[in-house]
Amino acid sequence: MIKDSNFLRKSFLEFFQKKGHRIVPSSSLIPDNDPSVLFTTAGMQQFKLYYLGSKDPFKDLHPLLNEPLNTLQTATCQKCLRTSDIESVGDESHLTFFEMLGNFSFGGYFKEAAINYAWEYLTQSLKIAPERMTVSVFKGAAEVPFDQESYQFWLKLGFPKEKIILGEKEDNFWGPTGKEGPCGPTTEIYVDGLEIWNLVFNQYYKTSEGILKPLKINGVDTGMGLERLALVTEFPQQSEKTIFETDLFKDLMQSLKEASSLPQEKLLRIIADHYRASIFLAAAGVVPSNTERGYILRRLMRRIIRFEKVIQLKEEWYLKGFEILQNKYRNFYPELDNQSEILNTFFQERDKFEKTLQNGIRAWEKLLRRIGEKKEIPGREAFYLYESYGFPLEILEEMAEEQGKVVNQEEFRQEFEKHQEISRIGQEKKFGGHGINTVANEQDKIKITKLHTATHLLLAALRTMLGPQIEQRGSDITPERLRLDFPFARKLTVSELQEIENLVNQMIQKNLKVEHYETTYEEALSQGVIGTFKDRYPEKVIVYEIKDSDTGQIVSAEICAGPHVTTTQELGHFKILKEEAVGQGVRRIKAILE
Ligand code: ALA
Repeated sequence: MIKDSNFLRKSFLEFFQKKGHRIVPSSSLIPDNDPSVLFTTAGMQQFKLYYLGSKDPFKDLHPLLNEPLNTLQTATCQKCLRTSDIESVGDESHLTFFEMLGNFSFGGYFKEAAINYAWEYLTQSLKIAPERMTVSVFKGAAEVPFDQESYQFWLKLGFPKEKIILGEKEDNFWGPTGKEGPCGPTTEIYVDGLEIWNLVFNQYYKTSEGILKPLKINGVDTGMGLERLALVTEFPQQSEKTIFETDLFKDLMQSLKEASSLPQEKLLRIIADHYRASIFLAAAGVVPSNTERGYILRRLMRRIIRFEKVIQLKEEWYLKGFEILQNKYRNFYPELDNQSEILNTFFQERDKFEKTLQNGIRAWEKLLRRIGEKKEIPGREAFYLYESYGFPLEILEEMAEEQGKVVNQEEFRQEFEKHQEISRIGQEKKFGGHGINTVANEQDKIKITKLHTATHLLLAALRTMLGPQIEQRGSDITPERLRLDFPFARKLTVSELQEIENLVNQMIQKNLKVEHYETTYEEALSQGVIGTFKDRYPEKVIVYEIKDSDTGQIVSAEICAGPHVTTTQELGHFKILKEEAVGQGVRRIKAILE
């Protein structure tokens, strides 16, 4: 029997069906009951309300079944899309679109059965040798204790103690999706060193204020990446293999290679991943645009189109690629039958972008010549390329990085906002001064402003923790998150990150005033104010200052054009999502306010 992806989907669902689970279809990539996230990112989303007890599995209709679930345990193969790793796509194991196999229990079985099922499925149904496996268990942190039970259940199965890793909250505590929801400690299963299955025990509800409350119902939510499972079953103990060699991608990659005159492995992988994701998004009804879901789709499609030129991909490939995907997935996802509509969405976007792409690339090259050795692409110039030629900001950043340069994000945002302001005024004039709705933009502006102040606090906390040599190397703020780059030689430890997060939250809770004043650049520097782009300031600058009114100590003072909030309590709760390297000696922190 060939253990390809069709086999894996089927065998997983059959296994859990035999164990008394109801098989539920994958929900759409667009979640229907979770407004805080753009896409379905995990199998549990369609069951979120059952974990909370606010939906009754025996009474309330399940939207995909048109009848109650009539059970406390289900299993699915769920389409998911995550954009958090989009920059890593092209390596061995990161993807945007992927399928997640999962079994779920809302008040039925709990930890022991979940662990036993996973073990039985992997070692008996798939015959994965136990020697290839390691597991991790939650070690415990401030509010949540060590998951002793899971630890004991693994030992009870005969799993060697030395292969049970005790993991930190960062790795062994999952959820919620979006701002609030069920979450809990996890136990994770690794095969050949690759994490394949995450077993989450939903014991808590995280409120939008960031507080963990115990849940009345004990829940199980598991997720196993189909692509990764295919990798470890199709290529046991062959660490040089990648998910792009599994049956899920093999034909697509081969056809790409054949249709390209200048193939580059990494770009082929990116195109394969992004094309598959774009096709599924278009099939879910997403249309490319400049906001939210549409923007993500536009970004994926425009990235394909840009790289298509680099590898000299023949246009015919798109139809061929679509047919390969259709053959691979249509039995499981009938929405891919809608060939003409899906492909039209893609080709319309391609036509739109292609019209300006060549001129845009010329303008870009001219710009590069103009700025010569300088490291920074002025935000104004980047905005011009965005506005006139349709390059999404992230693509411009990527093009800059290829040249060893960075885009001045802050300035880009300012231009962007200025432009929105102009077009809003224009609209208001056109509509007689009333009648249009700018609320969405206003809300985004508020979010960006808060994250902007949080960035100053984060920089201050980093300087306190790591020393005054820490400066801002780059910053990017979207309505969802902040991103800050700074020079530092090594990865930060979990406890350092926790400490930094605490410091920022303390400053927020103290409700410090954020004030600003105008001064000369020289004067600001002599006062020890931080300025990032040293050679570009005008003589008069604005300094934003955050002061501790109890001690009179200046917590943060930066030259900055604003805007900022007026008091720090407006920020809510600060949370670090990720800390990673972005280059030699430069670290990046992504964080949110919740
Ligand atoms: N919901 C869990 C995850 O996404 C299983 O990893």
